Amino acid sequence: MVDKRTVRDGYDALVDDYAAQRTDDSDDVEALASFLDDLPDGSRLLDAGCGQGIPVLASLDGVSGVGLDISHGQLARASENAPAAALAQGDMTRLPFADDAFDAVTALWSVIHVPEGDHRTVFEEFARVLRPGGRLLLVEGTDEWRGTNPDWLGGGAAMEWHIAGPEATREQLRAVGFEILVERTIGDSLEEDAAWTLFEADC
Ligand SMILES: C[S@@+](CC[C@H](N)C(=O)[O-])C[C@H]1O[C@@H](n2cnc3c(N)ncnc32)[C@H](O)[C@@H]1O
Repeated sequence: MVDKRTVRDGYDALVDDYAAQRTDDSDDVEALASFLDDLPDGSRLLDAGCGQGIPVLASLDGVSGVGLDISHGQLARASENAPAAALAQGDMTRLPFADDAFDAVTALWSVIHVPEGDHRTVFEEFARVLRPGGRLLLVEGTDEWRGTNPDWLGGGAAMEWHIAGPEATREQLRAVGFEILVERTIGDSLEEDAAWTLFEADC
């Protein structure tokens, strides 16, 4: 079971280590650019698990961004990288936003740190804060896996994951009312040969 305090404390401790690894040339950045191109000017976007505001919040143009993250340390860096974005500290299982508040939600490599029993609740929250027809861009794992790394990124802090995998994620997204428009495998910038699943969906 993922311990959210370990995740929060780990991300607080690993701000520089994560920034050093998070390049802007990974597959998700290309997918994000095309996702953002489809949003009309004036749209409102929530980046759930925004980290340091890269790549999502810092690349918005004509779209107003709100970033939510459990880690104060990551948010402090996001305020430097994406000064125009509104930022909130919180847990994506209980989003502090009204129903239908957003046209789009992004969640890149963030739901993978939420305890497995809460994944469906997170997707219900995404559906609740999206207006009807709103869009979701999500990155999940390609294989189900639960695990801990006591010294993630060599930065001396522990990190935990629960990767539900594409089948469970697909089923849960559909169960809470999303229609999956795109599901494909992508790489990442942290690990050579890593494979992840990118979903685009609307509700
Ligand atoms: C791997 S980082 C991804 C950051 C950014 N989305 C990116 O693509 O680089 C995961 C982020 O999710 C945040 N996070 C993990 N669990 C969370 C939760 N329950 N609620 C909100 N944010 C969470 C972490 O603090 C961290 O900033």
